[in-house]
Amino acid sequence: MIIIVDFGSQTTHLIKRRLEWLGFEAKIVSSKENLNSILKSDLCRGIILSGGPSSVYEKNAPLIDKKIFDYKIPILGICYGMQLIAYLLDGQVTSHQREYGPQNLNIIDKKSHLFKNIPSKFSVWMSHGDQVVKLPKNFKIIASTEKLKEAAIENDLKKIYGVQFHPEIYHTENGSEILKNFAQNICAIAPKKNIFQIENLIEKIKNEWLNQGKGKIISAVSGGIDSTVATFIVAKALKKEIIPIFVDSGLLREETKNKIKDIFKSVDLKPKIINARKIFLKKLKGVVDPEKKRKIIGKTYIEIFEKEAKKIKNAKFLIQGTIYSDVVESGHSDNKSAVIKSHHNVGGLPKKMKLKLIEPLRYFYKDEVRMIGRFLNLPKEIVDAQPFPGPGFAIRIIGEVNKKRLDLIKKIDEVLNNILKKHNLYEKIFQSFPILTGIKSTAVKGDGRVYGEVIGIRIYESTDIMSASWAKIPYEVLNEIAQEINQKFSQVSRVVYDISTKPPSTMEWE
Ligand code: XMP
Repeated sequence: MIIIVDFGSQTTHLIKRRLEWLGFEAKIVSSKENLNSILKSDLCRGIILSGGPSSVYEKNAPLIDKKIFDYKIPILGICYGMQLIAYLLDGQVTSHQREYGPQNLNIIDKKSHLFKNIPSKFSVWMSHGDQVVKLPKNFKIIASTEKLKEAAIENDLKKIYGVQFHPEIYHTENGSEILKNFAQNICAIAPKKNIFQIENLIEKIKNEWLNQGKGKIISAVSGGIDSTVATFIVAKALKKEIIPIFVDSGLLREETKNKIKDIFKSVDLKPKIINARKIFLKKLKGVVDPEKKRKIIGKTYIEIFEKEAKKIKNAKFLIQGTIYSDVVESGHSDNKSAVIKSHHNVGGLPKKMKLKLIEPLRYFYKDEVRMIGRFLNLPKEIVDAQPFPGPGFAIRIIGEVNKKRLDLIKKIDEVLNNILKKHNLYEKIFQSFPILTGIKSTAVKGDGRVYGEVIGIRIYESTDIMSASWAKIPYEVLNEIAQEINQKFSQVSRVVYDISTKPPSTMEWE
């Protein structure tokens, strides 16, 4: 087994997942735990020190006992983990060179076991403010980027390695191979056949339901992949208990409401539709702070579900399609990583809830949810559909959400996505949407001055949501999008294309 020592990174859990898909067992332990007994056991064959938001020199930075280097167990430090190795072994770390997003990595030592069977140049993803500037004794540089000499280091004899980039991030090319090299070649662990079994998940849900006193299960369906797959999984064991409810908040795409009934036909479930458009608009009136918006939306959804539950005899449970990226960004993971944004279904939930949550996908990433969806034979249109966030257009309208602005963004969204569909691009990308930026700028339309709104366009590629790159849409298509939006909407003054990667920029603007 590989022990992953967690220093609070957004992607610690992703390291575990990548290893598991490769067939290696992994366990996350907090850096605050006493690691001696874990590391002494025969089970531990390799150690990964995760990334984290701290700086090794800062007061209260999470450190680790130096004894870790005496166990003769191979160690791989990732980002903060690498800086920690350097710091603890008398190297030097400074906050000199910030890097976020893609960088080209050049392998310097092609014989390094970490880079076995890997091309000598490839793209890696960075997300760091600090860097190693002086190597500890007996370490050497094994890879560099143009800006960063010490991008990967090793002490081959002691089997201690450090990478400044994130091999666990999907966008890092050869990332899985690097983790595999560490586990298989350096730690000498033989991979097992796929560790994950969906039958176990179904069994676990049924047992929890039995142990928590049974009862009817409301399913919060949104028409999206996560809540659909979550409902289908629970239906495998407890179909007769499920009552799907679609809360029509008015914040989602209009087509969703029409599609919702068909989605569950194959399992004979008929979602009840609740029109809550006025309630949401009322609660969002005057609210501009993104975190407040998210929390209001999360709370309003739950209030409606609880009100509905009262009408159903013995309703005790609520299925939510929460996935791990929602959990980690909301700062609710086991490692209490930083709050990036409160996803409506996690950080946006009220403190006290009457319904008990069933979240079958809480520890899965988007690409895994899609795999499970395929395994459950869900139609392609659902499995491959663009994700749409629960708070919907509310977090794409900067500033106050009102009916006028909601109507406008929905219309612009339709124009944008129809153009992408016409060019067969819509299905190929991860998400595409406009943003009402709230910024005004000057335009001249028909010889008259227009002081109108700047519309942002976000189109990007991703798999597991933890990283994303902007889509390289052909210029002609971008031109068509800008022209059409500018022409159709008199209140728009210009259209801008967002070319930010995640990290650092999250996918949604709020
Ligand atoms: P960010 O903006 O966090 O988005 O990079 C990652 C993915 O999550 C979606 N998203 C949400 N989904 N509730 C959801 O159900 C939320 O509160 C929420 N916030 C963001 C976003 O659309 C993207 O797919």
